[in-house]
Amino acid sequence: MTLPIAVLVSGSGSNLQALIDHIEAGRIDARITAVVSNKAEAQALARARNHGLATVTLPHGDFPDRAAFDAALLGAVRGSGAEAVVLAGFMRILGADFVTAYRQRILNIHPALLPSFPGIRGAADAAAYGVTVAGATVHFVDEKMDNGPIVIQAAVPARPGDDGASLGARILAFEHRIYPQAVAWLAAGRLSIDGRKTRLAPAGLPLADLAEAGPCLVSPPLESGF
Ligand code: GAR
Repeated sequence: MTLPIAVLVSGSGSNLQALIDHIEAGRIDARITAVVSNKAEAQALARARNHGLATVTLPHGDFPDRAAFDAALLGAVRGSGAEAVVLAGFMRILGADFVTAYRQRILNIHPALLPSFPGIRGAADAAAYGVTVAGATVHFVDEKMDNGPIVIQAAVPARPGDDGASLGARILAFEHRIYPQAVAWLAAGRLSIDGRKTRLAPAGLPLADLAEAGPCLVSPPLESGF
């Protein structure tokens, strides 16, 4: 059955666009019930309208406190008929009531290999730290920031000359691939949570086990003989 999802945004909405494109191509069995932004000027809203999607704008500064914003957000999402929530560059922390209402049905994407570099500047913090491998993480959302069980990660090389913008762009290209994959798995009912591990049906293996079968990124590359 097609999964009704709400997508929460704050910015350019390139991840939203990737999701829309995969849904329209029939690769994700989901339908977007509403695109909700806490910023009126977010480009993501225009992307949504271009595809005939319902939009809701809730500027957080218009609300007396965090609880009031959270209640309005929950009302908008519930009112749209969404059964799951996808955070796509949404730069606000969800309150406990919201997380409780959609427990194990909220996904987020973060531009770093969590648990490294949580927060709002993941790619910039990784570049400044001097990592040589960076990446993106899709995870379930719980009450703590950037903390819930990991669904999928992609690693990319980071170079000494990188700043947040150049590294962020390299990461973003893979966000656009792993987020639609994760949402497709969610929509197909293939994800379940077992403690800190996410399991992918039908194999039922922790995703980390599956990843061991894939290639290993070493950055900078190994020279011959090593
Ligand atoms: C993405 O890089 C996403 O990972 C990041 O914001 C960007 C949104 O881009 N999210 C976070 O940093 C969450 N802590 P987009 O609006 O073009 O999808």
